[in-house]
Amino acid sequence: MFKKLLRKKTNSKVTTINESVDLVKEDKIPSHIAIIMDGNGRWAKKRALPRIAGHHEGMKTVRKITRCACDLGVKVLTLYAFSTENWKRPKSEVEFLMRLPEQFLNSFLPELMERNIRIEMIGVMETLPSHTQKALKYAMNATKDNTGLVLNFAMNYGGRAEIVMAIQQLMKQVEEGELAIDDIDEACVNQYVMTSHLPEPDLLIRTSGEVRLSNFMLWQLAYTELWFTDIHWPDFDEQCLVEAISVYQTRNRRYGGLKGEETN
Ligand code: IPE
Ligand code: IPE
Ligand code: MG
Repeated sequence: MFKKLLRKKTNSKVTTINESVDLVKEDKIPSHIAIIMDGNGRWAKKRALPRIAGHHEGMKTVRKITRCACDLGVKVLTLYAFSTENWKRPKSEVEFLMRLPEQFLNSFLPELMERNIRIEMIGVMETLPSHTQKALKYAMNATKDNTGLVLNFAMNYGGRAEIVMAIQQLMKQVEEGELAIDDIDEACVNQYVMTSHLPEPDLLIRTSGEVRLSNFMLWQLAYTELWFTDIHWPDFDEQCLVEAISVYQTRNRRYGGLKGEETN
């Protein structure tokens, strides 16, 4: 399907990843890509390995996809790493997941600096273990002046919790007489969600076959293009990302209106 799509664009045979990258670069690259990185556990199970082996392998995919997004000129890459519901998992698995930011950020930091990548986070920092907080804060601070790709981790993040927090902050403003209820509009709400300074995602990818949002970016995904794949996150690679983008490039984003020849 992917090669067929790219061939349709060029009428030639696409063979290497570099050729595919060059081809998608000829068209509009999504500014903000959000990914629900799912399937680490199933990847491990298929190999008779413990679930944490899948998470470890998934971390390698994060590096690979960050590099590729950076090379493609993506502006923001938001990765769903831990949801507010993931605390329900066994303690040992949660503990392993909470160590991953340290492992990932410590070893990847020199390259992040070299590539001018800025680390950001959405989610609730305060209830993360202190060592996880420390690693995130250190990387965010070290990369704060970088102006390239924003690598935004959704960590201890839930879309509903985010909306509730926005409502609380708006209500506080109303209570203090700084805001009238009738003045609350979408732009106002947008100011209080955790992505207020970022563009909305253009493309959402979910790996591993589930076709749901699992409480991810409920406010921000209103007009995002969705792309699902059965591939487990540890097996997701540059070719998959380029395929998702090439499908995105064929989509007609109407935002409720009409486009081009449809208006005739
Ligand atoms: C995604 O993989 C990683 C996190 C949710 C932290 P899963 O751990 O959900 O893997 P599956 O869905 O059980 O295969
Ligand atoms: C969503 O995956 C959360 C992350 C990828 C971090 P889950 O594996 O937690 O989602 P459900 O439970 O299948 O909906
Ligand atoms: Mg899962």
